[in-house]
Amino acid sequence: MTRAKVLLDRLRLPVIAAPMFLVSGPALVMAASRAGVLGTFPALNQRTTEGFADWLDEIRDGLSEGGEALPYGVNLIVHKTNPRVEADLRVCVDKRVPVIITSLGAVPDLVKAVHGYGGVVLHDVINLRHAQKSIEAGVDGLVLVSAGAGGHAGLASPFAFIAEVRAMFDGIIALAGAINTGRHVAAAIAAGADVAYMGTRFIATVESQAPEAYKQMILDSSMADIVYTPAVSGVNGNFMRASLERAGLDPNAPAPPMNMDKKEAKAWRDIWSAGHGVGGIKEVLPVAELVAELEAGFNEAAAALVARQGRAQAVARSES
Ligand SMILES: Cc1cc2nc3c(=O)[nH]c(=O)nc-3n(C[C@H](O)[C@H](O)[C@H](O)COP(=O)(O)O)c2cc1C
Repeated sequence: MTRAKVLLDRLRLPVIAAPMFLVSGPALVMAASRAGVLGTFPALNQRTTEGFADWLDEIRDGLSEGGEALPYGVNLIVHKTNPRVEADLRVCVDKRVPVIITSLGAVPDLVKAVHGYGGVVLHDVINLRHAQKSIEAGVDGLVLVSAGAGGHAGLASPFAFIAEVRAMFDGIIALAGAINTGRHVAAAIAAGADVAYMGTRFIATVESQAPEAYKQMILDSSMADIVYTPAVSGVNGNFMRASLERAGLDPNAPAPPMNMDKKEAKAWRDIWSAGHGVGGIKEVLPVAELVAELEAGFNEAAAALVARQGRAQAVARSES
C-alpha cells in the first residue's frame, strides 16, 4: 500500500476539509484534523511567507499534543502570478508538511521535493487533459473538481470523471463538488473515489474564518443562487449571486486576466464563493459536531447498501 493510502486509512472518515482562500486558517485546520478528517489551508491565507511559517509551527504544535502528530495539508498555487510559490515550498519542505495540494500547475520538481521528505502530493484538476499531465508529473493523487464545486469548479459529472481517471490512474482519487453529508461521502467512495474533498460545508463552521454574513448567506442560499462565471478571477468559478450583485459585478462581463495579486484577494473578500451544495446547509456547526454528523450519515449509507443487497438476495432465494 502506498504512503498516501496509509495516511488516508488513518483518518476516522475519508474526508479532506478542502483549502479555501480567506476561509481556512489554523483553527479550522486543527479542528478538522483533531476530529479525524484532514485539515488543509492555502499558504496564501497568510500575507507573507514568514507568517505562513508561523502558522505551520502553530498547527504542528497543536496537532502533536499528546502523542503522534496528526496529518494536515497545505495548498500551493503554482502559477507565474504567485511570486511566493518557491519560498512557500521551501518552508513546506523544511517543516515536512505531510500533504501538499497543488493548484493550476503540476510540477515534477515540486513532486520530487515533497517526496524527498516523505510527503504526499495531491493535485487539483477539472478535466482529463490536466489529469493526464499531473499523472506524468508523478503526483500521488488527483482532486477531481467536478460540477457544482465551490471555487474554480469544473463542469464534469463526478461519475464520468471518476470512471475515466480510474481507468488511467491507480493513485488516490479525491472527489470534490457539493459533497455535504456523510451519505454523500459514502456515495463518493461507492463511486470509486478514495476520499471526499469538502469545501463549502466547512465555510459554515464555527472555526472557519469567513465573516458571519458570509456564513449566513450560505444558510440562506440554494443551488439556484450559484453563478458560474469567470468575471471574478479570470477563470470560471462558482459564486453566490447576492454577493456578485452587491459588488455590482456583471457575471456576463468579460473575464479579467488571472492574477494572484492584491486585486484578486480583494475580489474574493467581497464576492463570496460557494458550491451547489449550499441548499443543503442549514446550520453553522462546530467542526467536531459536523464530523460526528458526517460519520453517522456515512455509517447509515453503508448499512443501507448492505440492507438493499440483503433484500435482493432474500427475494431471489424465496423465488428459487
Ligand atoms: C471560498 C472558497 C475558496 C477556495 N479557495 C481555494 C484555494 O485557495 N485553493 C484551492 O485549491 N481551492 C480553493 N477552493 C476550492 C476548494 O478547495 C474545493 O475544491 C471546493 O470547495 C470543493 O467543492 P465544494 O465547495 O462544493 O465542497 C475554494 C473554494 C471556496 C468555496
